[in-house]
Amino acid sequence: MLLEMLAEAGRSVVAGEALSGKLGIAPPEVFRRVGGLRRRGYRIDAVKGGYRLVDVPDLVGPLEIGTFLTTREMGRTLHYRESVPSTNDVAFRLAREGAFHGDMVVAEHQTLGRGRRGRRWVSPRGRNLYFSLVLRPDLPAARAPELTFLAAVALAHTLEEAFGLESKIKWPNDLRVAKKKVAGVLPELFTYEDRVGFVVLGIGLNVNMTKAEMPEEIATEATSLAVELGQVVSRPLLLAAVLSSLESWYEVWSTEGFEALRDAWLERNETVGSRVRIVAPAGSELLGEAIGVDDGGVLLLRLADGSIERVHSGEVMSASLDDGSSS
Ligand code: BTN
Repeated sequence: MLLEMLAEAGRSVVAGEALSGKLGIAPPEVFRRVGGLRRRGYRIDAVKGGYRLVDVPDLVGPLEIGTFLTTREMGRTLHYRESVPSTNDVAFRLAREGAFHGDMVVAEHQTLGRGRRGRRWVSPRGRNLYFSLVLRPDLPAARAPELTFLAAVALAHTLEEAFGLESKIKWPNDLRVAKKKVAGVLPELFTYEDRVGFVVLGIGLNVNMTKAEMPEEIATEATSLAVELGQVVSRPLLLAAVLSSLESWYEVWSTEGFEALRDAWLERNETVGSRVRIVAPAGSELLGEAIGVDDGGVLLLRLADGSIERVHSGEVMSASLDDGSSS
């Protein structure tokens, strides 16, 4: 393919003859296709009877991701949208219509991006990553939450590998850098007779959003990779790396079980071992010390009277029992 040939050559010039010979097309057709890439934002110089790729656009379409993608399944079928209400909704619909394990919906922009607990997920155009994977594990529905642990571990691992950036996971699956949220996971489940039919795993990762672009509601609690690293990050390259990490961890989880994943999660988590205030979905609060997660990812909380409360869902609000402040 034309783009692959240019990308493989790096900064070197690829002769027009070589391109038309390998692709089996006439030189005017090569010229036409180069024009198409230029219109999409690729900078391609015409030099000495050939072409040189100078810059690639920061888009998350199949062309851009395909250049970097190394996975077998995750994201191999990619439904790219410029703008959608929510990638989770599109993926859920496609899954109901028979989308396969690993199929992905990715968008440049979401008009109604959703977070957990009915919150809005801020999704400015072209700045961050918004994508949803269809997963079809053969699993009892009760074990589905394990997949959100998987996503958090895979994201944390990617940031370490790609940027040497340390991140921490707040139970169950918020990814935080310097105590601010950089990514979140929204799993949505379709069950069939107590088994998982499919899971849509929606992931939002703040990549190049600046502080000024963060609305007030999230400005004090959120961050982005660009803010933390002091540099702009290539979104297609990063997405390909996240998908590769997700595929590796999925493999670990399906061959070794939750145990291996839980260990990796515990290594990076900031909740277990600290005193926390948990706000349950219904609004009630629990204070205690988080002492572990069980086999299903349920948080174990030791209350003041020494009893152990098993917390299935809720928001971890603070690190201090004394002041009740949130973090
Ligand atoms: C959270 O609240 O922590 C979860 C945030 C999940 C956001 C992602 S962005 C892609 C996908 N589409 C959505 O509408 N939400 C998820």
